Amino acid sequence: MADIRIDSADGIATLLLARPDKKNAITDPMYAAFADALAAFAADAAVKVVVVTGEGPDFCAGNDISMFAAAAGGDPAASMINVRRFLDAISTFPKPLVAAVTGRAIGIGATMLLHCDLVYLAEDAALLLPFVDLGLVPEAGSSRLLPDRIGHARAFALFGLGEPLTGTDAVALGIGNAALPAADILPAAQAAARRLAAKPSAALIATKALMRDADAVRAAIDRDTAAFVERLSSPEATAAFAAFAARKG
Ligand code: COA
Repeated sequence: MADIRIDSADGIATLLLARPDKKNAITDPMYAAFADALAAFAADAAVKVVVVTGEGPDFCAGNDISMFAAAAGGDPAASMINVRRFLDAISTFPKPLVAAVTGRAIGIGATMLLHCDLVYLAEDAALLLPFVDLGLVPEAGSSRLLPDRIGHARAFALFGLGEPLTGTDAVALGIGNAALPAADILPAAQAAARRLAAKPSAALIATKALMRDADAVRAAIDRDTAAFVERLSSPEATAAFAAFAARKG
């Protein structure tokens, strides 16, 4: 499967972003594979909980920027079809999602955490939301979900100033459950997943559904996606994509 690896045992499915040479930046086929895997896990009664993690030291460097550049020069809305399938799948996933995050979590690598139920972060993890610097706007409903979670002023410092957030600070702000040394992150997420897998699963699913305002989340994703698509072909964004492509030249 396209740079996504899945594995399932003892009620726990693991979804691994497996493109470490590119810091697990997510491509269109990876969005499609991620969405398909979540749909399969949702339908599989043997899967009680899903762990999401990344191969190598960095969780995820965000959307693959060459994909943005191609979208800007082509059909931006069409380029978002698999992204949107992924966002719908993760934001409506009925079973517990546990994230294990080390290193960098950039763009969608950070905003997807707002759709997870338990988040374990390396103390020195670096969350970064560089949408404005890329001439873009926040995605994945994060323009609403992040200020709802941490307050407007703090969210604006991340979006507007592009300030990075350490794992320790992210936990203090309520984005994660525990900040630990990097080597302890996956074991902590797996231990939590084992505890969840042993619980009455229908009660867990009902609890998660009660805790999430599905209509509000969908509306936030709709709003962000419309603005994001509009920004993709803006002069600010195309200049930023070209600068990324040229930075090692
Ligand atoms: N899209 C496409 N390729 C990416 C990428 C992304 N989002 N993030 C990293 N890569 C690629 C790099 O181009 C590089 O490829 P190369 O080896 O073929 O040159 C490889 O991954 C390793 O990254 P590199 O930049 O050499 O590592 P670094 O440690 O110096 O920096 C980052 C790592 C993540 C800080 C830097 O790559 C970066 O800023 N990436 C873009 C993050 C971003 O803005 N994402 C979009 C959010 S909306």
